[in-house]
Amino acid sequence: MVETFAFSSSGRWRLHFHQQRRWVPASLSSRMALLVGLWLVGFMLVLWQRSSIDGTWVLRRASPARPIPLLRPRAFNLTDFGGVGDGATLNTVAFERAVAAISRLEGEGGGQLNVQPGAWLTAPFNLTSHMTLFLAEGAVILGVQDEKLWPLMPPLPSYGYGREHKGPRYGSLIHGQNLKDIVITGHNGTIDGQGKSWWTKYRQKRLYHTRGPLLQLMWSRDIVISSITLRNSPFWTVHPYDCKNVTISNVTILAPVSEAPNTDGIDPDSCEDVVIENCYISVGDDGIAIKSGWDQYGIKYGRPSANILIRNAVLRSMVSAGISIGSEMSGGISNVTVENVVVWNSRRAIRIKTAPGRGGYIRDISYHNLTFDNVRVGIVIKTDYNEHPDEDFNPLALPIIEHISYSAIHGQGVRVPVRIQGSEDIPVKGVSFRDFSVGITYKKKHIFQCAFVQGHVIGSIFPAPCQNLDRYDEQGQLVKQSTTPNIIDIDYDI
Ligand SMILES: *[C@@H]1O[C@H](CO)[C@@H](O)[C@H](O)[C@H]1NC(C)=O
Ligand SMILES: *[C@@H]1O[C@H](CO)[C@@H](O)[C@H](O)[C@H]1NC(C)=O
Ligand SMILES: *[C@@H]1O[C@H](CO)[C@@H](O)[C@H](O)[C@H]1NC(C)=O
Ligand SMILES: *[C@@H]1O[C@H](CO)[C@@H](O)[C@H](O)[C@H]1NC(C)=O
Ligand SMILES: *[C@@H]1O[C@H](CO)[C@@H](O)[C@H](O)[C@H]1NC(C)=O
Ligand SMILES: *[C@@H]1O[C@H](CO)[C@@H](O)[C@H](O)[C@H]1NC(C)=O
Ligand SMILES: *[C@@H]1O[C@H](CO)[C@@H](O)[C@H](O)[C@H]1NC(C)=O
Repeated sequence: MVETFAFSSSGRWRLHFHQQRRWVPASLSSRMALLVGLWLVGFMLVLWQRSSIDGTWVLRRASPARPIPLLRPRAFNLTDFGGVGDGATLNTVAFERAVAAISRLEGEGGGQLNVQPGAWLTAPFNLTSHMTLFLAEGAVILGVQDEKLWPLMPPLPSYGYGREHKGPRYGSLIHGQNLKDIVITGHNGTIDGQGKSWWTKYRQKRLYHTRGPLLQLMWSRDIVISSITLRNSPFWTVHPYDCKNVTISNVTILAPVSEAPNTDGIDPDSCEDVVIENCYISVGDDGIAIKSGWDQYGIKYGRPSANILIRNAVLRSMVSAGISIGSEMSGGISNVTVENVVVWNSRRAIRIKTAPGRGGYIRDISYHNLTFDNVRVGIVIKTDYNEHPDEDFNPLALPIIEHISYSAIHGQGVRVPVRIQGSEDIPVKGVSFRDFSVGITYKKKHIFQCAFVQGHVIGSIFPAPCQNLDRYDEQGQLVKQSTTPNIIDIDYDI
C-alpha cells in the first residue's frame, strides 16, 4: 500500500491511498484468492479507518500501534506538547516545546520524543543534545511548503556561498548545531519534505536562496539515524556537516528519480568516522556524495572527510551516480571503504569528480564487492567538473587523486564499464583493479576508457583494461609494464 499526499485545490492537505495491484500467481486456487482478498479487506478495515473531519480525509489507526520502546530515561509524546497529527495543523511549537523539555534533561540521560501515527505538519525546528526522536509506524513528519516559514541561515563556511544563490540559505527541516548524542529512529516512520513545490520553484527560478536539506546536523558528534524513511527532500536529504561519529543504518531514502533536482540521499561533508549501512536509496541526484567544501572556501576551512565506511547498500540514481566523491572536496577526502553495494538502473555507478581550483586530495579509496546492474557508466573519475562558487578560485589549486582500488566488481548491462579521465594537471595515480568482470551491452572496443592514469591490474579483467595500466598475473608477477600512462582514450559518445 502506498500513501501519497497531494495538495488539493481547496488548499487543504489530503491523504490518498493507492492500493498497488497485487500479483497473484495464476495457479492459486480461487479459494486461496478469496482468502487473500478477505485478508486484504480485513487488513484495511482493522488497521486503517478513514474518518472525515471538516471535509478533509485524515488517517486514523484503529488498532493499538506497535509499542514504542523506551530508549531514554524519560519519554514524551508529541501530543503532550499540543501536537495534532491531522496533516493540516502546524506542529512547529509542539516540536519546539518538546525539544526545550528534553534540553532540560541533559544531566539525566536526555529524553525521547515519540511521534505517534499520524501526519504531523511542521516548519523547521532544531534538535537538542541527548535526544532520541522516535517515529512510530505510520508516523509522518511533513515539511511545510511555504518557504516564508523556513528560517534563513548564513552560508556554510566551507562553501562561502549558498550553493545555489549568494548569501543566506534556507536551513533544514530538522536541524542541529553543536550537539552530541542524537538518535533519530523508529519503526520505519517517515520524514517527508514535500519537496515537489521546491523543485518546481527552483526550476522556474522563483527561489532567491539555496534550498534547505531535509536533515542537517552541523558541528555535532555521536549521531545515529536508523530505521526510518526519508522522502522528497527539497534539496540534499541527509547532510552531516563537520560531524564526527555518525551511523546511518537501515534507512530508506526516496525521491523521484527524475525532476527532483539535487535530492542527494546522504552527503557526509567534512565528516570523520561515518558508517552508512543497510540503506536503500533511490533519488533524483547522487545516492551518496562524500564532500569537504568548495574551492577557496573549502581550502580555507580545511576540514577533510575521513574514515567513511559504506556497506550493504542498494542505490539508484538515474541522473547522477550511486556513490560520488566530490565534486566539492577541497578539504580533502581519505580512507573511504565501499563494500557490498548494488547500483541498479542508474546513469553512473560510482564516480569521483573534481576540477582545477578545488585543491585538496582524494586518496585511499577502496571499492570492494560491488554489483552494477543496468548502468550506463560503471566507474567514473572526472577531473574537469568545472562548477565554481565564484570567479575567485585559484586555477592552480590542483587536487591530488591517488590510491584508488577496485576489487570484486561485477555486473551486467553496463555500457561503459570504466571511464577514468585524468589530465596533465590532475593525473590519477595508484589505481588498481582486481577481480573485475562486468557484462557489457554495447561494443567491445574503447569501453575501458583512460587518460593520464597510472596503476595496475591483477589477474584477468573483463573487458580488457586500457593500455595505461601495468598488468600483473594472479601470483603478482609483472606481465607487462605500461609505457603509456598518459595515453588518452576517452569517448563521451558511447
Ligand atoms: C504516549 O502515548 C501512548 C499511546 O499512544 C501511551 O500509551 C503512552 O503512555 C504515552 N506516553 C507518554 C509518556 O505520555
Ligand atoms: C536553529 O539553531 C540555529 C543555530 O543556533 C539558529 O540559527 C536557527 O535559527 C534555529 N532554527 C530554529 C528554527 O529555531
Ligand atoms: C520502510 O518503508 C519504506 C517505504 O514505505 C519501504 O520501502 C521499506 O521496505 C520499509 N522498510 C522496512 C524495514 O519495513
Ligand atoms: C559513537 O556514537 C555512539 C552513539 O552515540 C556511541 O555509543 C559511541 O560511544 C561513540 N563512539 C565514540 C568513539 O565516541
Ligand atoms: C538494523 O536492522 C538490523 C536488523 O533488523 C538490526 O539488527 C540492527 O540493530 C539495526 N541497526 C540499527 C542501528 O538500528
Ligand atoms: C579507516 O577507516 C576505518 C573505518 O572505515 C577505520 O577503522 C580505520 O582505522 C581507518 N584507517 C586509518 C588509517 O585511519
Ligand atoms: C557481496 O555483496 C552482496 C550484496 O551486494 C552480498 O550479498 C554478498 O554476501 C557479498 N559477498 C561477500 C563475499 O561478502
